[in-house]
Amino acid sequence: MVKHALHKKVKQSYTARFQQPPQLVVRAPGRVNLIGEHTDYNDGFVLPVAVDQAAWLAVGVAEPPLTTVRALDIKNDEVIFSTIEVPSSVGGWADYPKAVLWALLERGLQPSPINAVLASDVPVGAGMSSSAAIELAFAFAWVTLGQFDISLPDLALLCQKAENQYVGVNCGIMDQMISACGKAGHAMMLDSRSLERRYFPMPEGVAIVVSDSMVRRSLAASEYNVRRAQCEQAVGHLQAYLPEVKALRDVSLRQLKQFGRDLPEVVFRRARHVIAENDRVVKFAHALYGGDIAAAGALMVEGHRSLRDDYEVSAPELDALVEAAVEVPGCYGARLTGAGFGGCTIALVAEAAVPEFKAHIVTAYNERFGKQPAVYVTHPADGVAAIQ
Ligand code: GLA
Repeated sequence: MVKHALHKKVKQSYTARFQQPPQLVVRAPGRVNLIGEHTDYNDGFVLPVAVDQAAWLAVGVAEPPLTTVRALDIKNDEVIFSTIEVPSSVGGWADYPKAVLWALLERGLQPSPINAVLASDVPVGAGMSSSAAIELAFAFAWVTLGQFDISLPDLALLCQKAENQYVGVNCGIMDQMISACGKAGHAMMLDSRSLERRYFPMPEGVAIVVSDSMVRRSLAASEYNVRRAQCEQAVGHLQAYLPEVKALRDVSLRQLKQFGRDLPEVVFRRARHVIAENDRVVKFAHALYGGDIAAAGALMVEGHRSLRDDYEVSAPELDALVEAAVEVPGCYGARLTGAGFGGCTIALVAEAAVPEFKAHIVTAYNERFGKQPAVYVTHPADGVAAIQ
């Protein structure tokens, strides 16, 4: 098998920097989410795929007590920290390995000091989970080298805790879980409450096309927390009428209409998005299972509208990319993917129509915004693993 360019790159850089070959090379993928946006922190369903783009980590055990990590993408920036105590956070990329170390120590484990070289081709700030990929790469490396008995789903939870409590980003479980448990050729339906996973083969002849608006998500962190608070507000209100409700996952649209009348209008719309989006994930999974890609595509377009109008996490650039996408014959549907406020859209496109699709998107986007989007096909890939 031909080795990935980043595999070679991290391995060679490691050998040059640390004067011996690495013990392991780990690959942890980014993701795109086919449908189910802002449902995971409402105990709902999501349907992501792990992708070709990934974080690559060459790693080996180091002399105690110091860990040294070099980031090839950040001008070979190098950080050194003690592996015995909780390292202090100074922001930036190195907070991700430090956060994972913190979470392992919290669990009562003592990870060994490591030397590591990191490179990633998951675009940063594009809504493709570049940070979850880095977290999973380090977590997998430490767990493998230490021979700790932690399952992949558990590793995802550990990384989510690291991101929530050490990095301070209040994300749901989707990104870490798909980076840990993705399966080549498949989309993964995750129940964010029970953490049950079901895999659906992606249909033959249908490409997943990413269109990166190149707009980076400046508002994402603060607005994300506002959305979470609004969902909690809706739940609090509905519980007065429906005491069994624990999250928006437990509410139907009919119940929202009946008991949510007194909610502030904006909170009502946020809840309506989450509840309808959750239904869309289930319908999408049925459509995928039945090979009805047209129905799946229509659900994506409906989901995008809901994210734009009810949840208000889109951006003019993302709306334009979706509008241009659905103009192309052979495009089944398109939507923004990830948290929103910039980043990428994805489309399901008949393989034969991909060249025309790319050309149309680039032209339409350029005419409207005077800049180039990055448009490429990605493939459902495996979750985190050591690669020989
Ligand atoms: C980010 C978070 C996920 C999820 C999405 C929105 O990617 O990390 O947990 O909430 O936004 O669907």
